[in-house]
Amino acid sequence: MEQQLEVMLREAHQAMLDADNEADLQNIRVQYLGKKGRLTAIMKDMGKLSAEQRPIVGAIANKVKDELSEVFETRMRALKQQHMAKRLEQERIDVTLPGRHQKIGTKHPVTLITEELVQIFSYLGFSVAEGPEIEEDFYNFEALNLPKDHPARDMQDTFYISDNEVLRTHTSPVQIRSMLKHQPPLRIIAPGTVYRRDSDITHSPMFHQIEGFMVDENITFGDLKGILTAFITECFGKNVGVRFRPSFFPFTEPSAEVDMQCVICGGNGCRVCKNSGWLEILGSGMIDPEVFASVNYSSEKYSGFAFGMGLERIAMLKYGVNDLRLFFENDVRFLRQFHA
Ligand code: PHE
Repeated sequence: MEQQLEVMLREAHQAMLDADNEADLQNIRVQYLGKKGRLTAIMKDMGKLSAEQRPIVGAIANKVKDELSEVFETRMRALKQQHMAKRLEQERIDVTLPGRHQKIGTKHPVTLITEELVQIFSYLGFSVAEGPEIEEDFYNFEALNLPKDHPARDMQDTFYISDNEVLRTHTSPVQIRSMLKHQPPLRIIAPGTVYRRDSDITHSPMFHQIEGFMVDENITFGDLKGILTAFITECFGKNVGVRFRPSFFPFTEPSAEVDMQCVICGGNGCRVCKNSGWLEILGSGMIDPEVFASVNYSSEKYSGFAFGMGLERIAMLKYGVNDLRLFFENDVRFLRQFHA
């Protein structure tokens, strides 16, 4: 028996050292030291020994057991360490790598120009109003002195939703909505999206306008010129020339289109201003008494002016963009170039 124990010790010892993973090592331990293992099997024959031999062999068996337990523990610790070292190596994180940057979007140039104009007009005492993009015929046309059979309706190729509803063709209906809601004095601007059946290099079926109007007692054409000149010089620079040209709109009388000196050539004439040295930037005029009548304002007591302009056009001039379609293609290479 002593010999059997010794052979077993050697075998088990070697097997444990050879085990190269924790599960195998566990199995080897069970195989030799477990309840149904080799040691138990050997010890079954204890009964056959003499009374003197029994304690001696018992002591050897205990020693074998202790020794193997220790070998097992030591090997187990070593394997665990190996395992951990391997994992650490595999799952290593290089903390010196540069981080991934979060890309931050930029505001759309039309948003930027809207914000800038709202800012300028708020310095001049104007506040912002809004209206719906699906608009009733009454606000978009009728109340603006454009009755159903009026030829000037052709100026604005309209998208009809129904007989009575249109996609608004301009921001001027916000004038009507504001005047019906509030009494003078009024100083309001209304930026927003508008729609026309028109599409080429310089026209998009959806674009943006900003409307402005001022109503009070004793408002004159001089106020119109003063406010619009202040706006243009604030937006494009103190030395830029401004001129007022007679024009026609059904909802203003008299009406004027406003030009500024070409920002590209400084007024000398170039392709952008078609060699005239001037760029048309907005329509304006004194609010027509017919418009006041449709919102029940007394044109004896009150007078006012209104203006409207295309925001894409202002943005093109301000940022030097030569194709209107760039604003609507959402090409990031274009959009990224605009920073607040
Ligand atoms: N609504 C006009 C347009 O879209 C612009 C305008 C507004 C003209 C207010 C005069 C007064 O062309």
